[in-house]
Formats: sequence, structure tokens, C-alpha cells
Amino acid sequence: TLLIVFALVAAYLIGSLSGSLLLAPLFGSADPRRSGSGNAGATNALRTGGRGYGAAVLAFDLLKGVVAALLVQAIFGVSQAAAFGCGAMAVIGHVYPVFFGFRGGKGAATLIGVLLVLLPAALLVGLVVWIGTLVTTGFVGLATILGMLAVALTCVVAPAATAAAKLFVIAMTVLIVYTHRENIKRLRAGTENRFERVMWRRR
Ligand code: G3P
Repeated sequence: TLLIVFALVAAYLIGSLSGSLLLAPLFGSADPRRSGSGNAGATNALRTGGRGYGAAVLAFDLLKGVVAALLVQAIFGVSQAAAFGCGAMAVIGHVYPVFFGFRGGKGAATLIGVLLVLLPAALLVGLVVWIGTLVTTGFVGLATILGMLAVALTCVVAPAATAAAKLFVIAMTVLIVYTHRENIKRLRAGTENRFERVMWRRR
């Protein structure tokens, strides 16, 4: 039990290493929480600092999820169920980073990293929905919410999915919808940012 507590704390600390805030100086960018959507994540890094910064943040934040789910499990030898706990703690760390005043991102990139390790088949379904939504609507936030719902549905109906997996995806769906509450408000108000304007803009 003590080992599991250590693993969970380590995963939270890993998640707290906010890619957009740590890498901002490297790309000569300001704190992304002060511009664009105000979110400390890959999408807003792209929006406020360009493609190089955005891609670096996506890779960094995704890697945190991979490391938390994989390395923490390997080092501490904790169970699969505990690995889901570590994955959740990494996502929570990303959203509420202890090193950055508990104001982080929305958890999508880190969650993708966790899913890549623990639920790759469900992630694939989610990515199809994510890309489909992004291409047809142009809204990243909406794509993330619907992609997460697809992941959760896939896991809940899959006979092979463990109870820990089901609990994890349900908890993450609630968290993702919560962290995207401003996006939902903007979508309803018709003021949500469109992704392609950011992606194809010259810098
Ligand atoms: O998960 C991040 C993305 O879904 C939304 O980011 O900056 O458009 O709120 P943003």
C-alpha cells in the first residue's frame, strides 16, 4: 500500500510538470494562460506560440502520461489497477499542477499518453472520433469531449475491459467534460475558437 501511495504521488508530480509552462521560455513565448483560450495546454500553445511550440508541448504532455502509466508501474511494480490510478493522478497533476499555482491544462494530451499504454484499442476508437469531429467542425475542445466519450463507451461495452479500466474512463470523462466547461459555454454561445485558423496561419 505504501508503494502504491508513493507511485500515485510520483505520478501526480510528473503530471504537474506542465509542458506549456516549462517550454514557453525555450520558444520565446509568454505564459499561455494569459492569451488565447487561457489554457496551459498544447492547443493553446499552438494558438499563442506557433506550431513548433504546440508540437513540443503535445509531445511533452503526452509523454508524461506514458511515463506515469508505464515507468511508475515498472519501478514500483504496482498492479494494473494501480497503473490506472497513476494515470489518473498524472492527468490531475496536469490540470492542477502543484508547481504552477494549481492552474494547468485540460488533461487531453496527458490522457492520450495514459490511454496509449493502458487502453490502446479504445484510444484508437477515440482518435477516429477526435479527428472526425475536428475535421468536420473545426473545434478541438468538442473533438476532445466526443473522443473521450467514445473511449469510455468502448471500454464500458468491451467484455475484456477490467473494472479498473471502466472506473478510470468514467472518471476521466467526468474530468474532461469539467475541464472543458468554458469550451462548452463558448460552443453554445457560438464563440469557440476554430482550430484551422490557428493551424494554417502563417507565423
Ligand atoms: O484539450 C485541449 C483542447 O481540447 C481545448 O483547448 O485551448 O481550445 O481550450 P483550448
